[in-house]
Amino acid sequence: MPITRRDFLTNVSKAAAGYPAMLALGMLKSSPAHAFKLEGNGNGKHIIILGAGLAGMASAYELTKLGYKCTILEARSRAGGRCWSVRRGTVSKENDLPGQTAAFDAGMYFNAGPSRIPHHHELTLHYCKELEVPVQVYNNINEATYYFAEGKGPLSNKKIRVREIHNDVRGYMAELLEKAIDNHAVDMNLTKEDGEKVIEYLRAEGGLDIDKLYRASDRRGYIEHPGAGEKEGKIADPHNLAEIIQSGLMEPDFYNVSEYVHELQMTMLQAVGGMDNIAKALEKKIPGMIQFGAEVTSVNNTENGVTIKYKNNTGNHELKGDLCICTIPLPVLSNIEHNFSSDVSRAIDYIPYISTSKIGLQFKRRFWEEDEQIYGGITHTNNELTQIFYPSNDYLGKKGVLIGYYNFNEKSNRVSGLNYLQRQQLALQKGRLIHPQYDSTFETSFSISWNKTPYNLGGWALYNAENRRTLYRALLPPEKNVYFTGEHMTYLNAWMAGAFESARKTVTDIHARVTEQRIAYPSSS
Ligand code: ALA
Repeated sequence: MPITRRDFLTNVSKAAAGYPAMLALGMLKSSPAHAFKLEGNGNGKHIIILGAGLAGMASAYELTKLGYKCTILEARSRAGGRCWSVRRGTVSKENDLPGQTAAFDAGMYFNAGPSRIPHHHELTLHYCKELEVPVQVYNNINEATYYFAEGKGPLSNKKIRVREIHNDVRGYMAELLEKAIDNHAVDMNLTKEDGEKVIEYLRAEGGLDIDKLYRASDRRGYIEHPGAGEKEGKIADPHNLAEIIQSGLMEPDFYNVSEYVHELQMTMLQAVGGMDNIAKALEKKIPGMIQFGAEVTSVNNTENGVTIKYKNNTGNHELKGDLCICTIPLPVLSNIEHNFSSDVSRAIDYIPYISTSKIGLQFKRRFWEEDEQIYGGITHTNNELTQIFYPSNDYLGKKGVLIGYYNFNEKSNRVSGLNYLQRQQLALQKGRLIHPQYDSTFETSFSISWNKTPYNLGGWALYNAENRRTLYRALLPPEKNVYFTGEHMTYLNAWMAGAFESARKTVTDIHARVTEQRIAYPSSS
């Protein structure tokens, strides 16, 4: 009996691998944003790729599909670049510090680089699907986490649940605005009826009472939880607005950015078992193409191609290719010899990179879940820690790894100036102010300061309107036979999506040139 398409789809989707099977059978089309079907063949043109991070590997993966020969030179003994998860046995070395080896238990890890994927980073998620890397929800937003203002104002050194401050501030702001409208102190050019609607909205938004005053509601949590029988539950009084202000809880350290910034809005995702599973899956697709331990010493355009000099543990070498994709982070490239134009050279030297640091702390008990009902999310502080990230994996498990600080700029510089033990001491000393359980449950740590990490020397490229117009633009066109590629060549700085989007753009540009086609990425259609 002939089966209908509908029957077929119903049956296939019941099977465990329903969705991939349907994709493989061509019965579902991947969305146009992911379509990357270039025509023509690269006929074995040799592309030398500098760096086996996501941008370099994705370039090699796509170029190989199109018939190019790719060689990747990677200075480290591992692939993935910043897409790096620290597990038991992971080693790293920072400039001016001895090496460190992670002593986490087997199965424990933290993502030292990217740790979250916005739901709208379609290309990143497309690659997760294509490479069969399972993802799970990453809980970026959690009202149960804390604000902690060290040494500042009446609320100093108190760990305050985010839900208390969010709802108190929202309530007070609604009340203030409502009063201003009632007193005709705001000129909103609204009819009386519209004004009333705004007030109605403010009452709901701020949780105002019948007198349009903010008192408190269960939105800010209970001091005694409701339960069975006579257990009604008890709500505390709100914090005093002046005290919130004086403790700096309305200042940038505590801005509610995680909920508002487009890239940090839920839903966010992460690769199950560590973000580096994306890098590992990509590496498997390009077998034999990466030369590890190959540190590039010079990049030169020649009449017909490129000559790359590099050194490894057997000495100095030279490699010639037709074209080059250079994904080396700019602060590193800045120290490598080249024969680029002065505009390009200046851009490489002057585009700034952020200083950023993280520390993973393993605890023998998930006290944040067991004692404090915190499942994922971020605690914010005004001290060096800046943020504590709670893991979005293995909930209700036995042990866990917190990111004990994730900081930027001066605060990152301060911790990166310390040795590993001092960083651990700082993370514990400041962290125990919030979680005294640190003392009895801490086991081991591993820290990274990207600005001091060889082959990175920074977190990600930092642009402003001015250097976007000048320095960034100098790197956009290929420098003769060299294509600059990576998150720094996008408006998606600090995201894996930047690496992937940039790789696709470079692959398209190279393919257009080699096959003499008028194609561009992203396509305007
Ligand atoms: N993408 C970086 C992060 O998630 C900035 O923190």
